[in-house]
Amino acid sequence: MSSRVTFRPTVEADLDLVLSCHTDEPVSWADPERYRSMLGNGGYRPAHTWIAQDNDGRLLARAVWWAFPTSDRPLALDCVWVAPDVPDRVGFAARLLGAAHDAFRAVGWDGLPEWHLFLAAGWRDGPAVAAALEWRSAAAARSGLTGRLERLRYEWTPELPVPEPSGRLVFRAEPDDEVFVEMFRQVAEGSLDDDTRRDLARLGADGQARETLDCYLQMPGERSWWLLAYTPEGAPAGFALPSANQGGPVVGYLGVLPEMRGRGYADELLGAITRFHAGRGATRIGADTDLDNRPMAACFDRAGYRNFGVRLVLTQ
Ligand SMILES: CC(C)(COP(=O)(O)OP(=O)(O)OC[C@H]1O[C@@H](n2cnc3c(N)ncnc32)[C@H](O)[C@@H]1OP(=O)(O)O)[C@@H](O)C(=O)NCCC(=O)NCCS
Repeated sequence: MSSRVTFRPTVEADLDLVLSCHTDEPVSWADPERYRSMLGNGGYRPAHTWIAQDNDGRLLARAVWWAFPTSDRPLALDCVWVAPDVPDRVGFAARLLGAAHDAFRAVGWDGLPEWHLFLAAGWRDGPAVAAALEWRSAAAARSGLTGRLERLRYEWTPELPVPEPSGRLVFRAEPDDEVFVEMFRQVAEGSLDDDTRRDLARLGADGQARETLDCYLQMPGERSWWLLAYTPEGAPAGFALPSANQGGPVVGYLGVLPEMRGRGYADELLGAITRFHAGRGATRIGADTDLDNRPMAACFDRAGYRNFGVRLVLTQ
């Protein structure tokens, strides 16, 4: 390896170089097919793909961030590759990530994008997974991503149950975004979701609620799908927000107002979302929840959703 190394974002003309690396490490990975498809739908961009090159032009490392197609700001780091013959993989990956993080800060983006690693259920038993994670987590920590949490990944497929409405809650569409902002604000109180808690600390109650609104408005799911939930007597109980991402239908977000918790209403809200997507012919509904959000994970388990994997999230 020659001594001078350049760390830089890519441009369109780099595509062949960007696609020239491959790995057999058992972590989620933007292979050429995924990379091209995400490039096509705007999730990946040349400017959000950073590479390290030696002065002969050889590719030494690559990092790929994902963004909402409607936003300039990278939201999550999808994968990092370092050439196997680079002697200090940890240090080298940390330099690449550090260079990109500096550039993100320089344009005024506060908060570093999280790194999302998708792993199969039972990943703790695999030594090859542990090895692939070890150098990546160490590089993440050195580049400022010192936090770590696990999100359980669930899925519903058509052979699984679709619950009938029980009548315990009634659902109504609500076109006024401000009503949802107020709902998001209230539901964040006492939330066991790590993202929500960190956003609350960073942005305050109102800022967190508005960012949640913006985030769900940017998702490919339609705004008209969002539902408020009431008791039959007319008291607000929470909301069910079926949505979609670039992979298809997702549960999205559901929440029960703090004073209404502990009555099993989460089951009603998830049931409404499952019914909604199933009724539109979904062949898969994806969902995630933090390992520590036990009431929500238990709700998915009761509804028959399958826990097929884990999203390991490395955070600032
Ligand atoms: C997660 C959530 C939807 C659960 O709603 P719920 O209708 O209260 O759920 P359940 O009635 O099934 O609650 C089961 C148990 O967990 C407890 N519980 C529910 N939410 C809790 C919370 N945020 N903190 C502590 N305990 C909670 C309930 O009191 C109940 O306890 P019990 O068995 O001793 O009576 C609700 O807490 C919430 O809106 N949280 C914030 C938003 C959120 O996390 N949404 C999911 C994002 S993926």
